[in-house]
Amino acid sequence: MRTFIVVGHKAVTTPDFSLEDLPGTSGRMDILCRSINSAFVLSHGIRRDVQVFLVLLGGEAPKTLRLMGDQLRHLNPDERTTAALLKKALAIVAGPEWTRSTPGIFVRSGGLAELLFDFQDAKLFYLREDGADANTCQCLKEDAVFILGDHLGMTEEEEAMIEHAHAERISVGPVSLHADHCIVLVNWMLDTRAFL
Ligand SMILES: C[S@@+](CC[C@H](N)C(=O)[O-])C[C@H]1O[C@@H](n2cnc3c(N)ncnc32)[C@H](O)[C@@H]1O
Repeated sequence: MRTFIVVGHKAVTTPDFSLEDLPGTSGRMDILCRSINSAFVLSHGIRRDVQVFLVLLGGEAPKTLRLMGDQLRHLNPDERTTAALLKKALAIVAGPEWTRSTPGIFVRSGGLAELLFDFQDAKLFYLREDGADANTCQCLKEDAVFILGDHLGMTEEEEAMIEHAHAERISVGPVSLHADHCIVLVNWMLDTRAFL
């Protein structure tokens, strides 16, 4: 199972955003929707061996959404439909346990710290422009966890947490890309690796 974690620093935690103006009303939920698309959507179908966690930090308290490819239904390539699914999940009162919204989509309270705790035994990679070259490193693993920032990158505190969790820094090149494009590249690297 490939896992992607994307941190949305301004992403709202309530459903009161407009599907007509995602970037302007949702704290850049559009970035997270594109990340979902890059993580799951194939030419004919979706990747069943992928899960995505979206850490939403633009509300009073953090919330996390979980999307599981092996259970997902109704995921279309367009951002609007994806945002509508997230909107539905955010209407649920979230507690510390995962609550199912629609097939394959879950929500809970908490943010990055809780996720890093959950993945304390996993192989973690932190995507950063100045990391080790992901394409040549032998360390990539199919069942690894890949952590990415949004348009704001990652804060110093978050980076400290990620370092503390022993994540390895990897780069998909010297140019700063959008998070969703990085996800496409990681999927491509894993797809083309001999160990698959
Ligand atoms: C749009 S970038 C963030 C740019 C932000 N202004 C900053 O300075 O960090 C979004 C995320 O994609 C990932 N990223 C972007 N380019 C990358 C690269 N070349 N290699 C690895 N990760 C990259 C990082 O996780 C980054 O936080």
